[in-house]
Amino acid sequence: MPALPFYDPSLSYEENYERGPFGSFSENTTYPQPEAAPGQTFLGMPVFGTFGIPAGPLLNSRFVAAAFRHGFDLCVYKTVRSRALACWPFPNALEVEITGDLALRQTVRAHHISDHADNTPPQTITNSFGVPSKTPDVWQPDMRAAVQAAGSGQIMIGSFQGSGEDMAQVDDYALTAKLVAETGAPVIEANLSCPNEGKTGLLCFDIEKVVAVVNAIKKEVRDRPLLLKLAYFEDDALLEKLVHAVGDRVEGLCAVNTLQARVVDTHDRPALPGRDISGICGAAIRWAGLSMTERLHNLRSQYKMRFVIVANGGVLTPSDDRAYRIAGADAVMSATGTMWNPMLAQEIKYGK
Ligand SMILES: Cc1cc2nc3c(=O)[nH]c(=O)nc-3n(C[C@H](O)[C@H](O)[C@H](O)COP(=O)(O)O)c2cc1C
Repeated sequence: MPALPFYDPSLSYEENYERGPFGSFSENTTYPQPEAAPGQTFLGMPVFGTFGIPAGPLLNSRFVAAAFRHGFDLCVYKTVRSRALACWPFPNALEVEITGDLALRQTVRAHHISDHADNTPPQTITNSFGVPSKTPDVWQPDMRAAVQAAGSGQIMIGSFQGSGEDMAQVDDYALTAKLVAETGAPVIEANLSCPNEGKTGLLCFDIEKVVAVVNAIKKEVRDRPLLLKLAYFEDDALLEKLVHAVGDRVEGLCAVNTLQARVVDTHDRPALPGRDISGICGAAIRWAGLSMTERLHNLRSQYKMRFVIVANGGVLTPSDDRAYRIAGADAVMSATGTMWNPMLAQEIKYGK
């Protein structure tokens, strides 16, 4: 069994929400910043660093506060909704047996992380939660506490998504953005790449709907930088269409969300009961995050736009962070990597 991650996949989502975080995130240590004052900026705000944790593993304000104490200066609170939704049944995270890059539409085998043969942390996992949410009367005060947990030179980002279909979903994006802004979150992030939402494909591939969602959010929340979380775009022309349509309407684009795969057990049955397809994250999707970063960087230059690029996907080490910076990222984040290495921000800051 590898070292205890701060989100424990051997427990249910609710148990993690109630009892987590675990491992060193459960301790009260605050790691000092390397300089006396923030020396960098993110979206015009002073920060000590531009490394953080994307939407997902930070379930509530206790997780966010622990991440700030460990020196992750950009922390995203797990995606919330305007209404309550239960999590998909346990298990929600399994280790994926893969070496090298995940191909698109590949079938992969997965097993429980506790079945791990040696003591090394998993490199690639599948996660499947269904974007559960509490009701706003529960998450709003908790997100407010997460905002207040940020130290000097640190930023709390509130992630959200709209529920429902068609125009009702567009309206719900705007309503949920407003609820997030009310908590004082200085930056808001709309998740447009949720595999569990909508009748057709991912929202971020429907450019007309993306424009409608951005317009609706911007009408409701005028005073806050807006980031859009994107999936991997196979089609260069479609990515260009998206950037052309909204690249100067939003303050940042975040990529990449998980890649979809058919995940089976040793008997070729769905490894996550009731879910044939789930999202893959970690080392095997690094190529996809780097590709999105390079292409967004090129499109930003081509269109002379100013949006920031918040990059992630398979960042497990400081050299992965550097590779993303070279590809054009303004900020880098890690979900899978940090779950098993809570000291990753320290390693990056102190050049280990
Ligand atoms: C446990 C877990 C939960 C996640 N939940 C969300 C979520 O609620 N919203 C979202 O936009 N992305 C979510 N993600 C996706 C991550 O933000 C990220 O895009 C993806 O994991 C790829 O990064 P990584 O390779 O560093 O894990 C989740 C990822 C993990 C590991």
